[in-house]
Amino acid sequence: MTTKSVAELLSKDVTLQDVTVKGWVRTFRANRFIALNDGSTINNIQCVVDFENFDEALLKRITTGSAIHVTGELVESQGKGQSVEIQVKALDVLGDSDPETYPIQPKKHTFEFLRENAHLRTRTNTFSAVMRLRSSLSFAIHKYFNENGFYYIHTPIVTGSDAEGAGEMFRVTGLDAKNPPLNDDGSVDYKQDFFGKETNLTVSGQLEAETYAMSLGKVYTFGPAFRAENSNTTRHLAEFWMVEPEVAFMDLAGNMDLAEDFMKSVLSYALENNKEDLEFLEKRLLDEEKKLPQAQRSDMSLIEKIKFVVDNNFKRVSYTEAIDILRNCKPNKKKKFKYIIEEWGADLQSEHERFLVEKHFKCPVILFDYPASIKAFYMRLNEDGKTVRAMDVLFPGIGEMAGGSQREERLDVLKEKMKALDIPEEELWWYLDLRKYGTAVHSGFGLGLERLIMFATGISNIRDVIPYPRTPQNAEF
Ligand code: 4AD
Ligand code: MG
Repeated sequence: MTTKSVAELLSKDVTLQDVTVKGWVRTFRANRFIALNDGSTINNIQCVVDFENFDEALLKRITTGSAIHVTGELVESQGKGQSVEIQVKALDVLGDSDPETYPIQPKKHTFEFLRENAHLRTRTNTFSAVMRLRSSLSFAIHKYFNENGFYYIHTPIVTGSDAEGAGEMFRVTGLDAKNPPLNDDGSVDYKQDFFGKETNLTVSGQLEAETYAMSLGKVYTFGPAFRAENSNTTRHLAEFWMVEPEVAFMDLAGNMDLAEDFMKSVLSYALENNKEDLEFLEKRLLDEEKKLPQAQRSDMSLIEKIKFVVDNNFKRVSYTEAIDILRNCKPNKKKKFKYIIEEWGADLQSEHERFLVEKHFKCPVILFDYPASIKAFYMRLNEDGKTVRAMDVLFPGIGEMAGGSQREERLDVLKEKMKALDIPEEELWWYLDLRKYGTAVHSGFGLGLERLIMFATGISNIRDVIPYPRTPQNAEF
């Protein structure tokens, strides 16, 4: 008899017959009903034990958290709550669990407590549902690009360049921290380091992806990115996963179309393929919101919110229009914002982004044509000489979901920009080469996987949508 997964046993077209299954005990009620879960679905299979047929010592070992192997007949369930159950014929404890010390008790735990037990937290319904969605969305990302003619490129993790020019990088070195080789002026001599130069963990694969777009046409990278920004927020991680498509001969309008189509497609995939997990998370969120005053509750349920994004056009708004709206809005006039918007040129904070999507437009918004001064060096300068062809995709409840741009394809303009920002040409000679040999309009964007998962699951802290979060002062596990 082959072992079946719980998902297979609970599927509609299962045959009632003798089956065998392995999993972890969620609960054992009345010495008779075992709720067993193996991670294949949010649902448990009920295993019914006739205690007279089993040794008492064996039954004592069936505790929450133990791993067991069950064989029995799959029958239609007598009780409510499940369609089928297993009448247990044979039972084996594969791994005992100490009920006194096992952290994941069958009760509600706080997210803080579960973060400290991140190695066991996927044994709860909430975290297993979130991580199945994470897997599903990752697959949907690859599926989308694969079906649309993109090539998957593995850009390097260790780099010598700072793609975003923000200087928030983690150094990679093989030098002895206590006794590094020094130059005459006292600075560290990185020529003697492993790579013969200063290297860091990548903040983005974009620059290398551009080189591949300028030969393979349509490409994407999807991997970890690292940022040493010391921002302890619910939306930032020091290690996160980013997907970055890059397309030759595509302008900013094409980039917006791509971003919108892509996001709708991956969210539809989750709606179709993770129905039970989403229904569970939706109910969890409703229960959470019941504790809030009416005014703070959302008017849409989780699944309604996802469907709303899938079914409606994203609103496209220029930075200049957005500034006008923000300057004249109530929270700005009444000084309710932490950062008051006074002039054109101001950088937008998450409070402003969320006002635009949640209060003003009430739908996802793509902001474009930002001031050059607040955006990265590689963005295409507009004819007005002061804005660049940048875009940020803003989502309700999240703020910035993705950011991208049309890239500066003119060699002279790019060199000028780098000079103004003190970016040495020697460092990016290969990037400049793209503008020397067959340069062309091209564009791309980057989407943070964890922000997408937050939106799709309704989980409000980014630490709870990645298996092992890396944040300031925390790299446990
Ligand atoms: O806006 P960012 O910094 O853009 C880039 O890195 C470009 N090189 C992308 C491109 O054009 N190819 O980052 C892109 C996205 C953000 O919109 C956000 O969703 C996510 O990456 N992100 C983070 N997610 C979690 N923690 C952080 N510290 C993040 N920083 C950015
Ligand atoms: Mg950004």
